Amino acid sequence: MTQHIAATAGGASGRRAPDPSSGWWRDAVIYQVYPRSFADANGDGMGDLAGVRGRLPHLRDLGVDAVWLSPFYASPQADAGYDVADYRAVDPMFGTLDDARVLIGDAHALGLRVIVDLVPNHSSSDHPWFQQALRDGPGSAARTRYHFRPGKGPGGELPPNDWPSVFGGPAWTRTTDSDGTPGDWYLHLFAPEQPDFNWDHPEVAEEFRSILRFWLDAGVDGFRVDVAHGLVKAPGMPDIGEGGTVRLLADDLLPFFDQDGVHEIYRDWRVLLDSYAGERIAVAEAWTSTVARTANYVRPDELHQAFNFQYLSAPWRAGELREVIDLSLAAMRPVGAPTTWVLSNHDVTRHATRFANPPGAGIQTRQAGDRALGLRRARAATLLMLALPGSAYLYQGEELGLPDVTDLPDEVRQDPSFFRAAGQDGFRDGCRVPVPWTRDGGSYGFGAGGSWLPQPGSWAELSVEAQTGDPGSTLEMYRSALAVRKEHPGLGAGDRVEWLEAPDGVLVFRRPGFVCAVNTTDSPVRLAAYGSVLLASGPTAADRTVLPADTTVWWSAHPVESGQ
Ligand code: GLC
Repeated sequence: MTQHIAATAGGASGRRAPDPSSGWWRDAVIYQVYPRSFADANGDGMGDLAGVRGRLPHLRDLGVDAVWLSPFYASPQADAGYDVADYRAVDPMFGTLDDARVLIGDAHALGLRVIVDLVPNHSSSDHPWFQQALRDGPGSAARTRYHFRPGKGPGGELPPNDWPSVFGGPAWTRTTDSDGTPGDWYLHLFAPEQPDFNWDHPEVAEEFRSILRFWLDAGVDGFRVDVAHGLVKAPGMPDIGEGGTVRLLADDLLPFFDQDGVHEIYRDWRVLLDSYAGERIAVAEAWTSTVARTANYVRPDELHQAFNFQYLSAPWRAGELREVIDLSLAAMRPVGAPTTWVLSNHDVTRHATRFANPPGAGIQTRQAGDRALGLRRARAATLLMLALPGSAYLYQGEELGLPDVTDLPDEVRQDPSFFRAAGQDGFRDGCRVPVPWTRDGGSYGFGAGGSWLPQPGSWAELSVEAQTGDPGSTLEMYRSALAVRKEHPGLGAGDRVEWLEAPDGVLVFRRPGFVCAVNTTDSPVRLAAYGSVLLASGPTAADRTVLPADTTVWWSAHPVESGQ
């Protein structure tokens, strides 16, 4: 039965002027929980909201400011919950609306904000609107909330245009009419179970305003907007003429991504968000061609943050890293939004595995690579990220240094992209393997039962329990880094870094009272000693002027003379 949360905290109370002196989100460290893989309270092998609730103290102890929960709404799970059938209900697999309410309250009591995922580009094909559209047939009003079109060719047997699905294959699926004959096609930029909404339809816009209010009334602090760049399609839906696969960070504008029309939607949402007390925010998942285009999503009257996928995509090389850092800061400065930084999420190969591979392997690889190297670089990359001004996003398990599981047998895989791209893909399951909490137990403390994807035996030693209290562990490094960030509020603040002179392959920059030095090369380098070492991503040399290979060091800095 669908339960609904009664309107509680906040509530729409008329337009409020945003308080420019506040902005908890500007330098916030936000931790992504992927509910199905975080913690399983009922022992069915699948994570749930009660499991998340039970593990909130881990997040408090880690020192993050907020939690972003990937979708837990009612869904047939064709795309792990990114196919929503009821935006106001919790899927029984994850619990109930009461569980959601209690989780939000508990998180707040621990000083953690809560951001929930919002999936406005498409619904599940089980959504009542889509089901009604299928039933009502061609030409019906119900079909205008989605994109239905007749096919091309004499019998309409060809898709209406050449758009490919992000998951492989065409972005169109043909329907069957009630008399059993082939009918119109509908658009789905992702799986066929994820029909795209028609955002030109006023009812779609109104429905999402209502969904936003529903969760804001339930007390959430914000939204992560799924496929924020996809809602508006170019008029006439022109062919792209490539017939190829969709490049997520495409150089050119595609007629289905990053269309200027999407910004009107976010201006409308911003008014709604600002009408609530407590600085509710929204962060865009917008894969755009440049950081300058990403900045359009966070203009003062639009969303608050956007993920920095250019940064996530940068290889472990000083030149590229510095370039993307400079470009990102420069792009955000004119719009006054904080830059965000992210290294991992549920859609890409974890950075401990990306950096274990040659840069050409890209952000989606199934190669395990050199694990020790990958972890060393991942830790160094994390300390670099957490020293930059702005807000940082962490993905569950990265604080344990988890690698991708690259050898999952095909029969356990669930990522729809694996099935649609015929083995070429399938990378996303590898970063979704459930978190190990303890050394023992069938699923290393994930739950009392098994886990929906098998965890490698080596993960016992990567568990929270195994790493807690070990000063050399990745977990303790993250805890220390976040503690230092809290003690030095200047670290996340501002919109500039001051680069200091450094040898090739090395980055050194100053922030207030603080210097960060990053060696991306495979040999030690000699540097100045900038003060006292606050934290290092790996063992440091006895000689403080030597920075080991693939290592980042944070210094509590005394003033640096130029040329050092
Ligand atoms: C976003 C999500 C991804 C999902 C897709 C379709 O990119 O992060 O997991 O498959 O949207 O909703």
